[in-house]
Amino acid sequence: MKKYVVLNWKANPDTLVNASKLLGEYLKLDYKKVDLVVCSPTPFLFALKNKKIKLGAQDVSSFDGGAHTGEVTASALKSVGVKYCIVGHSERRRMGETTEEIVKKIKLLTKNNIIPILCIGERERGLNGEHFTEISDMLTESIKDLPKKSLTNIIVAYEPIWAISTENNGAITSEVLSETIIYIKKILSDIVGRKIASNIKIIYGGSVDEKIVKELSSTESLDGFLVGKAGLKSNSVKKIFENI
Ligand code: PGA
Repeated sequence: MKKYVVLNWKANPDTLVNASKLLGEYLKLDYKKVDLVVCSPTPFLFALKNKKIKLGAQDVSSFDGGAHTGEVTASALKSVGVKYCIVGHSERRRMGETTEEIVKKIKLLTKNNIIPILCIGERERGLNGEHFTEISDMLTESIKDLPKKSLTNIIVAYEPIWAISTENNGAITSEVLSETIIYIKKILSDIVGRKIASNIKIIYGGSVDEKIVKELSSTESLDGFLVGKAGLKSNSVKKIFENI
């Protein structure tokens, strides 16, 4: 089974020329074991289209069209070849994205055959396991009212906020990740039933680089990685591919 490597470029690189250069480096890699999703800034998406990679967006409008200046709709993304879209990233939630908007976004994405990559993850790990409730609430509130069938292709990105590289705490251990994946699977089963839950992919994000990939790659039921900072360095991406 191929593993996902989802690159979240965030607000980088600075120009289309540099984005194309970076992609050029990725295209030299061996794709036998990896499905590469490049989530680039919106203006570069169309120009980056390539058969070897899958195009991803970093966000989508919760509106289906109309008078909403500055919004980019799911159908517009679909029309330029976008196949995946990050939803509910902690950096967007921090800027005010609500659960209600996340639900609308997932609905519009699935309607347009774009696979939502739903980010969930606790702010910190407490000694009393409060983080489990936080994870469960985030996941449940985002998907409980959606038609079960539409959730078959969703990807859940477990990305604890404390582990994101800007927080400087380092990544999770394989043991803790394993335990959290089992927990996420259980919640998914409770909401959508075992069969659909077993199709839902779970990836990990938070300070992922080649070293972390080596440590976590064999974690049971882990379907891949969401990569921020290291995804802007072609050498790191090359080693991530090698370590999968
Ligand atoms: P990071 O970012 O890999 O730099 O920690 C991941 C993310 O924020 O999606």
